[in-house]
Amino acid sequence: GATEAPAEPGGSPKRSRWAPPTLPTEPSLYDGPFPFYRRPAEEGRFSLDAQRRYHPDARQLRYFAPPPAEHPDPAFDLRHGYRDRYVRRDESEREGLEHLLQWVAGNRDRLRAQGDAAGRPVNADFVTWRGHLTKVLTTPYESQEGWLLAVSLFRGTLYVSEVETPAARQQREQRSDMLQELAYMGYKFERYMCADTPDGSPDPTGVVNTNEAFCTVVRTRLGSHSLLFAGEVDCMDPRGAWPEAPACYVELKTCKELHSPAQRKSFYRHKLIKWWAQSFLPGVSRIVAGFRAPDGSVAALETFETMKIFQLIRGDRGCWKPAVCMNFCEAFLAFLKRVVTEDDPQLVHLFAWEPGSPVSYTRHQGAEHVFLPAWYVETMSG
Ligand code: A3P
Ligand code: MG
Ligand code: MG
Repeated sequence: GATEAPAEPGGSPKRSRWAPPTLPTEPSLYDGPFPFYRRPAEEGRFSLDAQRRYHPDARQLRYFAPPPAEHPDPAFDLRHGYRDRYVRRDESEREGLEHLLQWVAGNRDRLRAQGDAAGRPVNADFVTWRGHLTKVLTTPYESQEGWLLAVSLFRGTLYVSEVETPAARQQREQRSDMLQELAYMGYKFERYMCADTPDGSPDPTGVVNTNEAFCTVVRTRLGSHSLLFAGEVDCMDPRGAWPEAPACYVELKTCKELHSPAQRKSFYRHKLIKWWAQSFLPGVSRIVAGFRAPDGSVAALETFETMKIFQLIRGDRGCWKPAVCMNFCEAFLAFLKRVVTEDDPQLVHLFAWEPGSPVSYTRHQGAEHVFLPAWYVETMSG
């Protein structure tokens, strides 16, 4: 089969026909010590407004304003406004890396001034969205949804941009009203938990507009790979124990109410892995969950400290392991470096993964899959 380690010329056993290397995803192959992961440092911020316009500032940052501790079961109605106060982002608009590239281009002088031994305009091995890396981290344990990641090497940096799979597209276009309302409830929870100013109180009467976003840009390192990525952030806690970004950020989540230890165990196994990966990557220190009752109210709030999640799961032998997620990510990034070696923004390698299979790739030259915009290539070539 073609699923072993990459075939090095002359290195591996003789094969009758060359097959492109693939990367296996079984958790047991990545079980080992936790790899080096440098504490993420915030490099910058940007915002997308109600019309989805880019701004190189923190105007959309919101402030964590939970209900007082003496009211642990707040009077939230997460369904409120779904029919008449909901402005939904047009998800058929595939934005790719666009906003992140706008940030990079806007900061090119500063990035260049940071200096790079290899003379690259962007001093990082990888530029991507946090959400793409979250999917890579959870891959060894994922059994439902595959992914497609397009990769181009441009002036020494690998850019990674997700391509929607046909299955994901179908799901998005055929999403039931119930699932759409569920998604609304996640955003509505944010409106109840956040204020527009550090000392303000939440105003849950307003419109939920999913065009709006605040993003942090962080720099970090996983093993030998330097990373620059952006991620959407729900709010910051102006009264928290960690005043500095990104540790001051709080991720908000909703989840179906848990009624039994078995339900909690399942939540830890299948949902907490995604929450952990999403927040661990950019160094967000806390996740605050609202547990939904069937009537759309929030039955309970619970805080998860990102760095303590591994303690919650380590007693369960069948659970996921943070080290496996990170070791797999490190191996995947090394795989990208081995495969994508020609510096050419018009050349795209498409890495594909489906549950039960190894990661494979195809090579595409020409317009179809090109994702680095001409304006970006031009700006960064000057
Ligand atoms: P939940 O927090 O309850 O999941 P995020 O938590 O990443 O800040 O995203 C905010 C909300 O966006 C989510 O609330 C969910 O309602 C919605 N959302 C995020 N990713 C989604 C996806 N892939 N499909 C549908 N809805 C999604
Ligand atoms: Mg969010
Ligand atoms: Mg959230």
